[in-house]
Amino acid sequence: MLVAEGGGAIMGVGPVTEAGRIGLNYVTPEARFRGVGKAMLRALEAHARTAGAVRCTLESTETARRFDLASGYRKDGAPIPMLGARA
Ligand SMILES: CC(C)(COP(=O)(O)OP(=O)(O)OC[C@H]1O[C@@H](n2cnc3c(N)ncnc32)[C@H](O)[C@@H]1OP(=O)(O)O)[C@@H](O)C(=O)NCCC(=O)NCCS
Repeated sequence: MLVAEGGGAIMGVGPVTEAGRIGLNYVTPEARFRGVGKAMLRALEAHARTAGAVRCTLESTETARRFDLASGYRKDGAPIPMLGARA
C-alpha cells in the first residue's frame, strides 16, 4: 500500500500486489490534476516490477479511464457494472 503525502496531508493512496494487480489509484479531490495520480501509478508499477511482476493490471473507473489509457493501459474485457452503474 503506497500513500502520497504533501504538506502534512494524505493526497493519494493505492495498493499493488506482487503479481502487479493495482487495486486502486485514488487521489483526493483537492490534490487532483497536480501530478499525484501519475506519480502514484509509476510508483505502484515500480513496486510491482521490483517484486517480479512482468505487467500491471487494473480495473478502470469511468473517471479514470482516459487517464489509464493515456498511461499505457489497454482495454482487456467487457465493462463491469458496479455500484449500481449500468454497463
Ligand atoms: C484518475 C486519477 C487517479 C488521476 O490523478 P490526478 O492526480 O488527478 O492526475 P495527474 O495530475 O497525475 O494527471 C496526469 C495526466 O493525466 C491527465 N488526466 C488526469 N485525470 C484525467 C482524466 N480523468 N481524464 C483524462 N486525463 C486525465 C492529466 O491532464 C495529466 O496529463 P499530462 O501528463 O499530459 O499533463 C484521479 O483523478 C482520481 O483518483 N480520481 C478519482 C478516483 C478514481 O476514479 N480512481 C481510479 C480508479 S480506483
